[in-house]
Amino acid sequence: MKVAVAGTGYVGLVTGVCLAENGHEVTCVDVDENKIKMMQEGKAPIYEPGLQELMTKNSERLKFTTDHVSAYRDAEVIFIGVGTPEKKDGSANLSYVFAVADQIADSVQNECVVVVKSTVPIGTNDRVEAAVNERCAGRVKIHVASNPEFLAQGTAVRDTLHSSRIVIGVEDDFAKDRLLQLYSWSDAPMVVTNRRSAEMIKYASNDFLALKISYINEIANLCEAIGADIKDVAKGMSYDSRIGDKFLNAGIGYGGSCFPKDTKALSWLATFNDHEIKTVKAAIEVNENQKLLPIKKARRYFNDLRGINVAVLGLTFKPGTDDLREAPSLVTVPVLIDDGAKIRAWDPVGVSNFKKQVPEGVTYCDSIEETLKGADICFIFTEWKDVLELDPGMFVKLMNNPIVVDGRNCFDVEKIASVKGLVYDSIGRAVIDTRS
Ligand code: UGA
Repeated sequence: MKVAVAGTGYVGLVTGVCLAENGHEVTCVDVDENKIKMMQEGKAPIYEPGLQELMTKNSERLKFTTDHVSAYRDAEVIFIGVGTPEKKDGSANLSYVFAVADQIADSVQNECVVVVKSTVPIGTNDRVEAAVNERCAGRVKIHVASNPEFLAQGTAVRDTLHSSRIVIGVEDDFAKDRLLQLYSWSDAPMVVTNRRSAEMIKYASNDFLALKISYINEIANLCEAIGADIKDVAKGMSYDSRIGDKFLNAGIGYGGSCFPKDTKALSWLATFNDHEIKTVKAAIEVNENQKLLPIKKARRYFNDLRGINVAVLGLTFKPGTDDLREAPSLVTVPVLIDDGAKIRAWDPVGVSNFKKQVPEGVTYCDSIEETLKGADICFIFTEWKDVLELDPGMFVKLMNNPIVVDGRNCFDVEKIASVKGLVYDSIGRAVIDTRS
């Protein structure tokens, strides 16, 4: 099938590449000329496991262009995968979605389906359909479908090729049949529903996961206060299949481009419709406080952070991505800089993005060992494999004052307890102090 994809961020690019992998002819469109040039040369502009390989493998079925007219003109399906960033009031900014919708209406020559993949407030698909058809003024019929994505960064290709489910929100058989045909290669469960339900499935799913994280983080904070261990508590909960074992990792809060934005957007949407979504509002508040935890913990050990040598392991909001959006590191590191701490940081792929947000005040290291050398305190913000595999004896060997604030519970407490000369302060577990 002839497919066009507007927007080459995580959602658009991964969708385009995975559709090409399944035999479709795909043209990806973006306004960023440098990015398009890079992709025309065969290079993936983002770090995402498996993406580069699939781009290379399917190069004959994949085109990249800034010329939206040629891309949309005779496409059978056009995906909108552009950003819906958060506005100051927490609502979603839909200007990119509607700008693309206008371009599509001006370009298409044949009856086609426009698929909104971007996460959009409930009712947006209806508005897009009205807008494109009004602009076309009967010249050609455009059907609009909602097809939210459920990929997570770091596993985006796998999540798309082996989806947990494919949600198709349609109002007519033309759109439904075309999308079922487009996805005929997939063995994922298909949920065919109306457009508003499809839009809601996306928000309800993401916000439920955010809630689950904030819930386990609150339980973790309580565990610290009463002497329980969150890892054991989560394990004990997980055997109940109604609870499950996923998304019960306590830590310093969720980041990324989705949960923070989608929780605020749903809360805003509820308020706008005279409802109050109390659970989601609570999840947002808990998460904001959770991001402050590393600093609160550091102050247990230092009254004044001026001149203190700080080691930071991991900057990205989670492993497997170079994305820094809403990363807890972006809350803590600027505070440490303002407090006059001397910071050395390591991250395998996130450094260049971090520098864009925090241009000064951090020295970057190529290895964990170099980062730890001479440090008075170490913060772990991301559970990268190299951190998980680190011998905790290295903290004692390399640091000046081995205090470790582990925001992602990377180490087994028993393993840590066997290392002499260390303070280990993690989330929802007792502080381990083996100095004496
Ligand atoms: C999330 C969802 O997981 C995807 O299903 C969804 O499609 C995507 O948003 C989206 O809307 O595009 P993503 O933001 O890439 O994916 O990352 P997650 O793996 O969900 O992690 C988000 C944050 O939650 C990370 O900061 C992670 O460290 C944190 N987290 C996750 C925890 O603190 N504890 C957990 O148990 C799990």
